[in-house]
Amino acid sequence: MNDPNGMVYYAGEYHLFYQYYPDSNVWGPMHWGHAVSRDLVHWEQLPIALYPDELGYIFSGSAVVDRKNTSGFGTADNPPLVAIYTYHDPIGAEQGRVDFQTQGIAYSLDSGRNWIKYEGNPVLDNPGIIDFRDPKVFYHEDLQKWIMTLAVKDHISFYSSADLKTWTFESDFGADIGAHGGVWECPDLFMLRTSEGNNYWVLLVSINPGGPAGGSATQYFVGDFDGNSFTPKDTTIRWVDYGADNYAGVTWSDFPAEDGRRLFLGWMSNWDYAQVVPTYQWRSAMTIPRVLQLSEDFRLQSVPVEELNLLEGQTEIITEELAMEYITKEPLFKLDVELSNGGQGTLIIANGQDEQVVIELQESEIIFDRTKSGMVTFSEKFEAFHGIPLDGLKPSQLTIYVDASSIEVFVDEGLIAITELVFPNAPYDRIMFTPNPETNVKHAEITYLESIW
Ligand code: FRU
Repeated sequence: MNDPNGMVYYAGEYHLFYQYYPDSNVWGPMHWGHAVSRDLVHWEQLPIALYPDELGYIFSGSAVVDRKNTSGFGTADNPPLVAIYTYHDPIGAEQGRVDFQTQGIAYSLDSGRNWIKYEGNPVLDNPGIIDFRDPKVFYHEDLQKWIMTLAVKDHISFYSSADLKTWTFESDFGADIGAHGGVWECPDLFMLRTSEGNNYWVLLVSINPGGPAGGSATQYFVGDFDGNSFTPKDTTIRWVDYGADNYAGVTWSDFPAEDGRRLFLGWMSNWDYAQVVPTYQWRSAMTIPRVLQLSEDFRLQSVPVEELNLLEGQTEIITEELAMEYITKEPLFKLDVELSNGGQGTLIIANGQDEQVVIELQESEIIFDRTKSGMVTFSEKFEAFHGIPLDGLKPSQLTIYVDASSIEVFVDEGLIAITELVFPNAPYDRIMFTPNPETNVKHAEITYLESIW
C-alpha cells in the first residue's frame, strides 16, 4: 500500500482508504483498500472499496459526506459518501499521451461498504498535463460550494462545484513559491485557528523527490483562501515532518466541528526505497494519527492523538536509569523526556546486537542517525542520517514512539516531528541518554504499549 485516501468520518467511524495493489507487495494497478476504526487506534480491514476499470487505475483522492445531497446520489435522510479520485489510464500513459490522468467520483449509501461509480465519469478532464491528480475536496460553508485542491505537476489548481459533478477552474498557486525538487502531489487545504484565535488557511503539498531528508516529504503553506485563490503569508519553506518517512499525508474530512481537532496521518515510507524495504506482509504502514495545530509563528504542530492512551500499559519513571542504560521490558513503548530548556545530548535506542538509532540534540539541529539501526544496506538512500534544523527552537521535551519498525519523534509538543523507518534484527530493548554538561534531565518515563492487532 501507499498513500492514505478518502479519510472521512461518518456515523461514528473513521474511514481510511489507501492506495493498494492486492496482487503483490510492490506498486501496481491501484485500488482503494479500506479499513475502519471507531477510536483511531484499532482498525478493521474491509473488502476493497474501488477497483480499476476501463478509465484506469484508481489513484489518490478524498471522500466527503454530501450532507445536503447536492450530488443527488442519496437523500437528505441518507446522505451519500462521495469519493473523488484520480483515474490513471495505463494505456494512455504507455502510448505517450499527456492526458491520461482525469478525476472521477463514486458514491456509497451504506457507510462506505459498497461503492457505485458515477456513470458520467470522468468529471474533470485532463487539460494536457501529465501530472494532474490527487483531488482533495471540502465543502466551503460560507460560499456554499465544494472546493477541490488538485496537484498539477509543479503547482496546485483550485476548482469549485455545486454538485461534485461539474467543476469550474478557479486559480493556480505555487509554481514560483515553495520547494520544487520534485513533482507536487496529494494536497490538502483547511483552516486552523491559533491559540490566540487567529484563523489561517493551511495548504499541505507533498513533493517527491526534494524532501529535507531526501526523497518524499510534505511541505505546507500558511495563508488566506477566499474561495477563489490562495495567498501565502510569506515565502518560507516549511515541512510537516522532517524525517524521511511521512509522505502523502492529508487530514480527515467531516470530523465534527465541535471536537475541533484536525486529524492527520501519512504514509510511513519514501519512494526512494519503498519497494525494496526488507519486509514482506508488512511492507508499508501509516504513521500514528496526529492532531495538527498552528502556532502564531506558523509552525505546524503534530500531536499524537490522545486515543493512543487506549494502548498504554505500565508507566515507569526512569530519570536516573536513562543516564546509564535502561533495559526495556517489552518491545513497544513510548518514551517521554523533559530537559532543561535548550537541552542537548545524545539519545541512543539500541538492541543487544549493536544495532542503534542515535538522536543527537545539538545547539541548532537534531541529527537522526539510522546508519547502524539494523538492516540498512538494501538502499543507499535509506542508510543515512538526517539533520533537522531547530530554527531557534530550544527543545525541552521529547515524546518518542518506538514500534517494531518505526520511530516517531515529537519535539516540544510536536513543534518538530521526525518519522523514520528502521529494520532492526531484534527489537530495540535498551535506551540511554547522555546529556551535555549544561543539560539537566528533569524527568524521564517509559510507557509500555500494547499491540493494536
Ligand atoms: C503519491 C502518488 C500519488 C498518486 C499515487 C499513485 O505517492 O504518486 O500522486 O495518486 O501515489 O499510487
